[in-house]
Amino acid sequence: IVLAVDFFRRQARRTYRMIRERIARINGYLQEAISGMAAIALANREVRAFAEFERLNADHRDAYHLSNKLEAALFSFVEAMSTLSIAMLLWEGGRLTRVGLMEIGTLVAFIQYIQQFFVPIRDFSAKYAVMQSSMTAAERIFSLFDLEVEPVPEQPRVPARVRGAIEFDHVWFAYRDEDWVLRDVSFRVEAGDHVAIVGATGSGKTTLIKLLDRLYDVARGRILVDGIDVRDWDPRALRRRIAVVLQDVFLFSGPVVTNITLGRPDISRPAVEAAAAHVNADGFIRRLGGYEALLRERGSNLSGGQRQLLAFARALAHDPTVLVLDEATSSVDPATEWLVQDALAKLLAGRTALVIAHRLSTIETADRILVMHKGELREEGTHAALLARGGIYARLYRVQYGGQALPAERAAARP
Ligand SMILES: Nc1ncnc2c1ncn2[C@@H]1O[C@H](COP(=O)(O)OP(=O)(O)O)[C@@H](O)[C@H]1O
Ligand SMILES: [Mg+2]
Repeated sequence: IVLAVDFFRRQARRTYRMIRERIARINGYLQEAISGMAAIALANREVRAFAEFERLNADHRDAYHLSNKLEAALFSFVEAMSTLSIAMLLWEGGRLTRVGLMEIGTLVAFIQYIQQFFVPIRDFSAKYAVMQSSMTAAERIFSLFDLEVEPVPEQPRVPARVRGAIEFDHVWFAYRDEDWVLRDVSFRVEAGDHVAIVGATGSGKTTLIKLLDRLYDVARGRILVDGIDVRDWDPRALRRRIAVVLQDVFLFSGPVVTNITLGRPDISRPAVEAAAAHVNADGFIRRLGGYEALLRERGSNLSGGQRQLLAFARALAHDPTVLVLDEATSSVDPATEWLVQDALAKLLAGRTALVIAHRLSTIETADRILVMHKGELREEGTHAALLARGGIYARLYRVQYGGQALPAERAAARP
């Protein structure tokens, strides 16, 4: 029995792990398929998506089947052992009774004892299966606990006043091993400066701002905010001062107002309304039904431009010292575009700003432009100076922004 239970334990562990893995795969697939429903429908992939789902489900069912079979096997093995020992007892006991060494009563008592002896073993084998399945679940929970939490500095620094000067000092960074995504990047942004970052896709622009807000840590070099290494900052204080508006704005299902305050109780309702009005978001919010109007999951009932305006309102309401913005690449309709540009100008006023720029207007109004190329900072200067230099920026400008209207034309087209 001991050997059988040990064999069962090893097989069961494997099977339960398999079940968990497959359930996880089903959940992952469902999540992806549901959030990507539009993409699936557009690509006419419904049938294949269903087939894939069927397959994942079948895999899970098979694994479950196997675990049931194992449990049943253990149980029936224990039953068989119990019956077998009674049979043996009858055999030997019968012989002993016949030769007069044992009374019938003793034999009957023994049979009862054997049966009682097997009751806890049978119970145990049923519970053992549950135990094994719980153990594999616990395994997963503990592996989660073992994940490294965000490293917190020993003496986190929380400066009372933040000016918002940023310095990258010979920063190197790789997501994996030595695949350098940033190589020796150094630059300074003085407090109050507006700096634009431009560069081809994949040149490392987004990575720069992830490092600044400490979503990742640098591999070599350091990043200073107001002369303090970001690794020594209290992460929460740092993120309160530096607002990051990412390319795709994340909106939660719930009222507009919570999407702006993000649940911070110290932002009053009038402050929310003022922020929204300042960045031209009040118009569409009113049309939506006011600040209590519910946003659908991920703000699917808003247009791209409206989402951006809402993100600006959110950033403004939190009143950060430094604004870091990954401008949305998708262009919006001309009417909203004008609102967004105007809102952006108001949002940046009086703050240090680091903007990954896709709009010509943002680039032109920046104090300085950083040009990223394959993870290196290759050029730096004003729009005019960089154009005159005829280097990477000049080429990028022709390719990416050549199609956008020139300032003069744009001014003329404005109502
Ligand atoms: N989470 C990640 N894991 C691994 N590689 C990544 C990750 N994010 C970005 N990269 C890689 O880093 C490089 C720079 O990406 P990114 O900073 O997003 O560029 P950009 O914003 O300029 O388009 C790209 O080659 C990209 O493939
Ligand atoms: Mg990017």
